[in-house]
Amino acid sequence: MHDITHIEAFLPCATPPAWIDWALQHPDILLIDHAHCEKKAASTALNLMFRYVDRPDLLDALSQLAREELLHFEQVIQIMRQRGVEYDHLSPARYAQGLRQHVRTSEPGRLVDTLIVGALIEARSCERFAALAPHVDEELGRYYRYLLKSESRHFEDYLNLAEQYAGEPIAERVDFFKDVERELIESPDEVFRFHSGTPGTVDS
Ligand SMILES: [Fe+2]
Ligand SMILES: [Fe+2]
Repeated sequence: MHDITHIEAFLPCATPPAWIDWALQHPDILLIDHAHCEKKAASTALNLMFRYVDRPDLLDALSQLAREELLHFEQVIQIMRQRGVEYDHLSPARYAQGLRQHVRTSEPGRLVDTLIVGALIEARSCERFAALAPHVDEELGRYYRYLLKSESRHFEDYLNLAEQYAGEPIAERVDFFKDVERELIESPDEVFRFHSGTPGTVDS
């Protein structure tokens, strides 16, 4: 298995075991939301490429990233078809918006914060795939382990770009977003999604 100890060290907390149990109770939503997440990851990267046409390193890294996310999307959709899981709309988890609401509105803070949030989302996704892998069936476990390599590289790309474009140390800003992330992961959540918190009282 691809080594993700640097990702586990970066994240403010591990995925709570209760979330793993919750995921195993919702195998269809897990796949459907995963497909949406891959598509959104590509879309986020493309949006950044439209907004920051004057940043060559960003364009190179995120163009490749967007292609990889769309490939993952196709792979998840394929697994769903084989399993007879129907693709459908799904309300998003509170997670990404919960992080993005803290993104600064003036540049370069807006870019730097968006990249830090991107790094956290990629890191968490990577950690969750690794955490799920031993508990799901063999085919899905193999697929999740295969994803670790690219998702951990996406984490590194986002973090490196944030450092590059900040022009000042970003450790404090990263710590701020880590605190927000920990709260979103460890507090009770109402619906099960790939990035939801712990099982709350109202599940649907
Ligand atoms: Fe992906
Ligand atoms: Fe990714």
